[in-house]
Amino acid sequence: MPVRTALTDMLHLSCPVIQAPMAGGGDTAELVAAVSNAGGLGSIGAAYLTPAQILERASAVRALTTRPFGINLFAPTPSARTGAQQIEAAIEYIVPYYRELGLAEPQPPTSASIGFDDQLSACLETDAALFSFTFGSLSHDTVERIRSQGKLVAGTATTVREAEALAATGVDVIMAQGSEAGGHRGTFASEFESAMVGVMALVPQIAETVPIPVIASGGIMNGRGIAAALALGACGAALGTAFLACPEAGVSEAYKKAIFSATEDETRITRAFSGRPARGIVNRMIRDYASVPEKILPFPLQNSLTRPLRNGASSQGRTEFLSLWSGQGVRMARRIPAAELVARLESELIAAIDALSALRH
Ligand SMILES: Cc1cc2nc3c(=O)[nH]c(=O)nc-3n(C[C@H](O)[C@H](O)[C@H](O)COP(=O)(O)O)c2cc1C
Repeated sequence: MPVRTALTDMLHLSCPVIQAPMAGGGDTAELVAAVSNAGGLGSIGAAYLTPAQILERASAVRALTTRPFGINLFAPTPSARTGAQQIEAAIEYIVPYYRELGLAEPQPPTSASIGFDDQLSACLETDAALFSFTFGSLSHDTVERIRSQGKLVAGTATTVREAEALAATGVDVIMAQGSEAGGHRGTFASEFESAMVGVMALVPQIAETVPIPVIASGGIMNGRGIAAALALGACGAALGTAFLACPEAGVSEAYKKAIFSATEDETRITRAFSGRPARGIVNRMIRDYASVPEKILPFPLQNSLTRPLRNGASSQGRTEFLSLWSGQGVRMARRIPAAELVARLESELIAAIDALSALRH
């Protein structure tokens, strides 16, 4: 018998599993569609895509599946003031890395963004069933506009206070992001350090406080983890790192190798790559910047400053300059196709629930 939850009912899934959105190339149309075809929910991380690219990616997914899928953006964040001197110092610090890779000198970074409103309009033109976002909250009117297009809306919370703020704007679902999670912290209403709450503590406190369904994410890699999330009061789990390890994921082979050789104590939160705290596998760039935090510009300037370096490093297979986003469950990553991963997650989930029930005999 399949496992039925509020999530599987809302989105007509056969398994309460979401492939977490992963902006930056990880979540290819092939990965998203494979997860959706297997009965989970694939998601497009559209934060770095232009409106035209959003429409293109969504049609590429639609060409591969008739099943529901999700789409995700970064909520607009207030831009920090940065002085010319600070920018100059940040460029000066990064120049040797550019030279080491034989790249052209770094250009002054820009905070120009693609424009949330245009991205959102493109997302609304797609037939994604779930619209999710991170880094902030949206106005009640914006949430209503998305819902009026027949989409469910999910906001990301790393504390109970954030979950309450999101629920007050009318979102349908809370994505509870524990401190184990790979990639950027969604924190928007606290100091990020105090919002490093693990899934075990975060999910039940949100589930008991807000009256809407909660999805757990962070360090969940197998069916046992999903069963634990359900026991904590979630209606499903969103997995990022687990799906990044699949052959369909669009990250370089060097990145995947780093995932397969990393252990749970080898990830760390860093601002080095983008200016926003994010969890990745420790490498030279993270170690170097740890001792010079004043050389890191705020998001999105640091992201813009390091982008050509990361692209160059990726094509040269130099993982010491790559943002190797990964969660703390990294040791449990499996190199299997996404459809097989969803099937295994489902059978492991059922086995874990049965094993717990058997404890009563
Ligand atoms: C490579 C990567 C990129 C990510 N990009 C996004 C994103 O664009 N939007 C978002 O809401 N979350 C993003 N996340 C966070 C995930 O949604 C999720 O919280 C996280 O992957 C869960 O932890 P796990 O990796 O341990 O499964 C990203 C995570 C990773 C690993």
